[in-house]
Amino acid sequence: MAEDPVKVAIWLDDNPEPIGVYSPPASFELDTTKLPDGPHRLIVRATDRAGVTSVRVIDFEVHNGPGIAVVGLNPGDVVEGRVPILVNAYAGTTEEQWEPKRAETPAPVPTWAWVLFLAVAAWAMFYWADNLRPEAELAVSPTFAPPERIAEAAGVRPASPTPPAEPAGFAWRELGAETYQRNCMACHGENGEGVLGFVASLRESPRVLAPDAEEVIYAVLTGAPRGVDLRSQMPAFADLLDDQQVAAVVNYIRNSWGHAAPAVDPERVRTVRQQLRAHSQD
Ligand code: HEC
Repeated sequence: MAEDPVKVAIWLDDNPEPIGVYSPPASFELDTTKLPDGPHRLIVRATDRAGVTSVRVIDFEVHNGPGIAVVGLNPGDVVEGRVPILVNAYAGTTEEQWEPKRAETPAPVPTWAWVLFLAVAAWAMFYWADNLRPEAELAVSPTFAPPERIAEAAGVRPASPTPPAEPAGFAWRELGAETYQRNCMACHGENGEGVLGFVASLRESPRVLAPDAEEVIYAVLTGAPRGVDLRSQMPAFADLLDDQQVAAVVNYIRNSWGHAAPAVDPERVRTVRQQLRAHSQD
């Protein structure tokens, strides 16, 4: 058998005896658990057949003891008074059953995390508030616009409170209240107050109180005031309520909650329906 051209000997620290002599390539296991924690040195010496040697020295550090974490004092810190310091130690590789709980050092939430959290929270609030601002086409809708703005957009003027005129032969009060409770109250509220930012208030609407009820009839039949062309949350009541019910509920909202505006009869609702139908046929 031909002799190996090169021999490799390995020493550890200052031991006079090598821990092994091998023919390359050599692989061996260094059991660091047998070494004390701290700096060590591995020396590899290779010698060829002519007796020429080369040496490689590798300094390394063994750390098998418990890990140490110190919170509250860093190297080079300038401190004064009493300094609260938290020390934690957790077993290293030698521990069979590793317990993660002990490795977690309970440190206070760092400032940057607070700043990040506050920045995200502030942005979220800004985003939310920004979304409350309606798009241009919604801006003149009764839900979002103040009453004066709607009055201006609709070209109507609130009626001066006059005693409601009951059209002859049409007793609308009871039917109106009942129709309102069944069909409108869920959204517009018991007292017509609506839901700020979501459902138009009927109490403060100049359109609702206009001397002429046509726009209100229109809104109830189609589900949105004229000229406010939007995907309204309000259903169109044209197919849900008859002329009597529409007239009654229109009179009801125009003459409740301190309101007093001229009442209409079912005949008027029929006329508006016909106009709508004629319009939709164009
Ligand atoms: C599903 C919820 C909902 C129901 C039910 C509902 N509405 Fe509305 N209503 C709205 C919303 C939302 C608006 C605002 C539409 C807009 O912004 O254009 C509105 C607007 C109105 C307007 C226009 C107000 C103005 O100032 O121009 C009138 C009048 C009205 N509703 C009456 C009624 C009546 C009467 C009923 C029952 C027959 C009814 N609504 C049922 C949600 C509803």
